[in-house]
Amino acid sequence: MINSPLNYSGNKYKALKDILPLLPTDVDHVVEVFSGSALVSLNMNAKNLYLNDISIPLLQLLHYFYENDGEKIIQDMEQIILDYGFTDTYRYGIRSYPEKKHEGLSKFNKDPYQKLKEDYNVAPRVELLFALIIYGFNHYMRFNRNGLFNVPVGKVDFSTSLRNKTIQYADAFKKKNVHFSNLDFRDPKLYQYPGRVFYYFDPPYLITDAPYNAYWSEEDEKDLLSILDDLNARGVFFALSNVVKSNGKENLILIEWAKKYHVHYLNRQYRNANYRRKNITEAIEVLITNY
Ligand SMILES: C[S@@+](CC[C@H](N)C(=O)[O-])C[C@H]1O[C@@H](n2cnc3c(N)ncnc32)[C@H](O)[C@@H]1O
Repeated sequence: MINSPLNYSGNKYKALKDILPLLPTDVDHVVEVFSGSALVSLNMNAKNLYLNDISIPLLQLLHYFYENDGEKIIQDMEQIILDYGFTDTYRYGIRSYPEKKHEGLSKFNKDPYQKLKEDYNVAPRVELLFALIIYGFNHYMRFNRNGLFNVPVGKVDFSTSLRNKTIQYADAFKKKNVHFSNLDFRDPKLYQYPGRVFYYFDPPYLITDAPYNAYWSEEDEKDLLSILDDLNARGVFFALSNVVKSNGKENLILIEWAKKYHVHYLNRQYRNANYRRKNITEAIEVLITNY
């Protein structure tokens, strides 16, 4: 399974093994309207991907991985490591950087990270953004309301595993023809692709917290569900990822709407039981399909 070095919030890597068997294998064109790191469509057979997202920096990153070989991206990162003086345990070993408990490499990378953040926020370049993700806390990508990158320094550096994910992710893009767009999900252009097209939707979730969920309202949810009904009326196949319950909250709008489609419960332990009777705090993840 292809993973991404971006560790994008809400990415579907852990759920892929449950989602992929539920998706069609004989489609040539896949549209991801809320692409994020696009892990679902990159792991499908389809050759042609239409990746859309509202986030411009995210699309710039995807484009960077599509246009460049993994080796070139690693070279870019090595240059930034040298320029800013970041730790490089891959080259010099962990013993070169004696760590205190719990703080990992953060004390070595704090000042270089601050400088990199300032440089990026003044003149954003995609290479700098990927380096910020590598050296940032949990590899997060977050911007404040003014659009400034605001993640604190992390505890790790550009490890062997992150380098491998970089190569794997860049290679996965090379196997596809990708068309990128930066449209709101309501834009009719997203629903006019000709031919046999499959739609996968992984929108912000109404009842969980990820940075982009804060801006997702009941109005958005209803608009999306009505678009899905339109696709269904046109005979277009879709799959929608979501959660129906999380932290004691239920998404009643979704639960009611989904009655006309097929709801697949991804948490294995709830597949044969009525999850509503159990006292559970973990999110109940579903894939809703119209086929
Ligand atoms: C749950 S994430 C997708 C994660 C993705 N499946 C992955 O594996 O990385 C939801 C995405 O929807 C995007 N988004 C939020 N509001 C949007 C809108 N109005 N139109 C299009 N995309 C939007 C966010 O920027 C975010 O990347």
